[in-house]
Amino acid sequence: MESRDIFRYITKQDKATLDRIIERMEFRGKNPVFRGWLMEYLGKLNVTEMGEVLALGCGTGVEIRCLLSLRDFFGRAVGIDLSPELIDAAYNFSAAEGVDSRVEYYIGDVHNLDFEEDRFDAIIAHTLISHVAEPADVLREAARVVKPGGQIFIFDGDYASWSFGYSDPEFGKTMEEAVITSIVNNPRVMRILPRLLQEAGLRFASVTPHHLAEVGKGNFFMSAIESYGALPGKLGLLPEDKVSEWIDEQQRNHEEGAFFASGNYYTYEARRE
Ligand SMILES: C[S@@+](CC[C@H](N)C(=O)[O-])C[C@H]1O[C@@H](n2cnc3c(N)ncnc32)[C@H](O)[C@@H]1O
Repeated sequence: MESRDIFRYITKQDKATLDRIIERMEFRGKNPVFRGWLMEYLGKLNVTEMGEVLALGCGTGVEIRCLLSLRDFFGRAVGIDLSPELIDAAYNFSAAEGVDSRVEYYIGDVHNLDFEEDRFDAIIAHTLISHVAEPADVLREAARVVKPGGQIFIFDGDYASWSFGYSDPEFGKTMEEAVITSIVNNPRVMRILPRLLQEAGLRFASVTPHHLAEVGKGNFFMSAIESYGALPGKLGLLPEDKVSEWIDEQQRNHEEGAFFASGNYYTYEARRE
């Protein structure tokens, strides 16, 4: 199935979809598991007092607000995203948390960054790389604008590993693929990142694997189903009635304590030599 990733095509989304995306980004930002993974790598950033961190594909700025909330981070942040609506939301959320004086947001494409080379002390890409058209080009741009010796953290899902319990395994597999196709451009990119980093002239420094399993009750995955479960039907990838049956069964499983969903995530740390 050809990808229909709503994040890659964020500028083509209507207001209702953007509102749902904003709500969901903030929901995931508050999820203790995802927040823990994010805080873990933010805590590994070596940034001097005057340092600047660039967040690629920052969306509503969840990762930037977490960074600026760290007691021992005294630097500044710059966020860039394709979507003017998400950048507006990012400004508003930052102002509401009182950190807007330490952050600048730009509308732009991470394939072609409008920043001079060697500018940033560190770069983070929090669930961006799975959505872009050309991951290799984005990594090359990151390598260009980070200072020599600077860190680049790339966190994302290995979305091809997402799986859900379903009574009809065959349709279940088709549905998993269709959901992934609807929301992710590169569902297997985390498996080739070591090679892509090398090709971008970056040194692979470390990887931290993460596994999320929700069994019995769903939380993150149930919210993903509520936000994106209907997309395969709406996008014409699968019959809407079959998609509704799948969603209903997930909802029932959740209510009756019989839910199952799981997926793998990874945090890569790379360095510019
Ligand atoms: C899944 S969201 C992650 C948002 C945020 N980093 C977070 O974790 O909450 C992916 C983001 O990447 C942005 N994006 C996708 N392609 C982009 C591109 N080529 N240039 C800049 N941003 C892009 C989308 O607009 C979206 O905000």
